[in-house]
Order: sequence, then structure tokens, then C-alpha cells
Amino acid sequence: MKRIPVGILGATGAVGQKFVRLLEHHPQFFCAELVASERSSGKRYTDACNWIEDTDIPEQVRSMTVKGVDEPLESPLLFSGLDSSVARDFERTYAEKGHIVISNASSHRMESDVPLLIPEVNIDHLRLIEKQTTPGKIITNSNCVTMFLALVCAPIHRELEITSIYVSSMQAVSGAGFPGVASLSILDNVIPYIKNEEEKLETEPRRILGTLKEDRVVPASFPISAQCNRIPVINGHVMTLNISVKNSVPVEDLSTLLSEFSGYPQKQKLFSAPTSPVIVHKDPFSPQIRKCISHSMSASVGRIRSCSNVDYKMVVAGHNTVRGAAGAALLNAEAYLAKGYTL
Ligand SMILES: NC(=O)c1ccc[n+]([C@@H]2O[C@H](COP(=O)([O-])OP(=O)(O)OC[C@H]3O[C@@H](n4cnc5c(N)ncnc54)[C@H](OP(=O)(O)O)[C@@H]3O)[C@@H](O)[C@H]2O)c1
Repeated sequence: MKRIPVGILGATGAVGQKFVRLLEHHPQFFCAELVASERSSGKRYTDACNWIEDTDIPEQVRSMTVKGVDEPLESPLLFSGLDSSVARDFERTYAEKGHIVISNASSHRMESDVPLLIPEVNIDHLRLIEKQTTPGKIITNSNCVTMFLALVCAPIHRELEITSIYVSSMQAVSGAGFPGVASLSILDNVIPYIKNEEEKLETEPRRILGTLKEDRVVPASFPISAQCNRIPVINGHVMTLNISVKNSVPVEDLSTLLSEFSGYPQKQKLFSAPTSPVIVHKDPFSPQIRKCISHSMSASVGRIRSCSNVDYKMVVAGHNTVRGAAGAALLNAEAYLAKGYTL
């Protein structure tokens, strides 16, 4: 198969670096262009970027010159890890120039004609791009902690109808990008506030689990109450979830429902698709960040039990820059092509 040249916007950041790493051995795409701010443009990638991955910078991009956002790009497909303060205008401009932009930023996620896509959960929402009038299109993936909540809640909502969710998150420092939270603020500490995060976690899952009606998404009606905390781990978000449903089943049946969950990427055997989008752990000491999330595209869930106040409680964990960002965007691009859309 001839590989498609792709560009990475925000290539020097935490998510951009994960794109570089994941693209190194991707069978459909190869990294042809790297884009970042004025601070980095014109420099060799190795000089522009403070590489934080635990593998070497791939040979192929090492000496590539970083481009600025004002330079024309040739790649038809762009993966965006742009800072959200600048993503809105730049991503729109690239779509106007005919590029397909797969974005990690929050800027366009809630726009009525932009899919907020998790292909296992709402592949039908991809159809929203047909409403976009620009020559190129914008597809978004969710906030990093929303991703794991939505993956776990999708089969539960489909089968049992969720009526409310309470969630408390513990989120890694890489979720704040590079250099992110100052070490003197986060080491030996928990910070009980992440700007705009609770708002995203209370709205995005309802859109993702919403229903496509006459080419618009009607959000799921259940309320979500979220509290988000920053903790001193490098990668991996964890959350405790309390869920009420309309039609409850025994805990064992809920575990089976989650472990058997599967969707379009699994059916199509897409390259970035995990075998199981949700991995259920029986050991009460799981899931743990150091032991369970590795470089995984799955959500890990454990400690599933019934609750005296709501129906169920559980712990969920996942890798924020893999399934929560760059890996999710790659899967979205693979699903876009598998659905027969062109570049
Ligand atoms: N980190 C995560 O776990 C995660 C998860 C999901 C979604 N996201 C979202 O993904 C995006 C990237 O996050 P990140 O954590 O990778 O952030 P980051 O480490 O701060 O990287 C930001 C990138 O944007 C570039 N940039 C900043 N200002 C720019 C400008 N004016 N023009 C062009 N490029 C500019 C930076 O380039 P320079 O290096 O040249 O400044 C850098 O490449 C954000 O929208 C974030 O909300 C992040």
C-alpha cells in the first residue's frame, strides 16, 4: 500500500511528539511535514523540540525543517496538536485550503457540523462533515479524560440507559502539554483545579453519546457532575465513576457488557484499533497507571461494584496522549478513509 503523506500541526508539543512516534511505523500514513510556532519554524526538528518520548526521535523526521503556520502545506491530511488558543483559526484556514484536519484541540468540538468522533461509539456522527461547506473538513477527537469516560459509558448507555454520572478525575501532567505544570507546583502535591476541564467533561460525553437526528446531534440527556484534579504522574489519567441507570443488571452482567464491547474499528480491523476498547480488570488493585495503561488504545476499568447511592461505581484509567489524543486522531483518520471519504 502506498503511504499517504501527512502533516503534523503543533509537532513540537506533547501531542505532536506522540504523533511523530505513532506515525513512524504506520502502514497508511507517513510524516511529511512538521509545523509549529514562530519559535520553532526554520529549525531542524531535533533542535526545535524538547523530545519527551522514551524512544529516540525517528530518524526520518530528525533533520526535517519545521514549517510555520503561514507556509503552504502539500499534505492532504493534517493531524493537529495545536495549542487550543490558536487552533480555532489555523485549523479553519487549513480546511478552507482543502486539507482534512483531524484535531485534538477543543476549539471546534461543539460546532454543529463538526464530528466529535470516537469510531467505536458514534461512527454515524462522521456524516456531519458532509454539512461542512469548506473544500477541506475538520474532524475532532475528545478531551483526553472524556475519551475514557465515553468509551466505558457507551455500552452502558446503549443497553441500560444512563440517568446520571458523577466523576472525579486524577490527571497526569503531560495532559497540560510541555512544559505544562511547574515541577515545584505539582511534585508532592495534588492540584484540585484544571482550567475548563470540568466543563468539557460535563458536556463532551453527552454530545458523543448523543443521537444523530436530521444531521444534527441531540445530546444525551443525563447530567454529569465532574471534579478534576492534577496529580504528579507523567502519563495516564484515572477517574472514579458513579453511574445511575434506568435498567440495572447484576454487576457480573455489567462487566460482561463492558468486556464484550466492540465497534466499527474492530470490525474493520483498523490499524490503530485495540482488540478490546474496554479492558475489564478483576483484581481489586487494578487498574493502575504504571501497570495497566502502557502505550494502550484501550480504556482500563476495574473495581466495578454496586453502590448504595447510585447503581454502579468503578475506576477507569487510560493513556492521555495515546488513546486520549494522538492515537485517537489516527484512528479517526483511518475510519474516515475506511468509510470511503477521500483526501
Ligand atoms: N496533552 C494531552 O494529553 C492532550 C490530550 C488531548 C488533547 N490535547 C490538546 O491537544 C493540543 C496540544 O496539546 P499539547 O499537550 O501537545 O500542548 P503543547 O505541548 O503545549 O504543544 C502545543 C503545540 O502548539 C504549537 N503552538 C503554540 N502556539 C502556536 C502558534 N501561535 N502558532 C503555531 N503553533 C503554535 C507549539 O509550538 P512551539 O513548540 O513552537 O511553541 C506546540 O507544537 C491542545 O489543544 C490540547 O488541548 C492535549
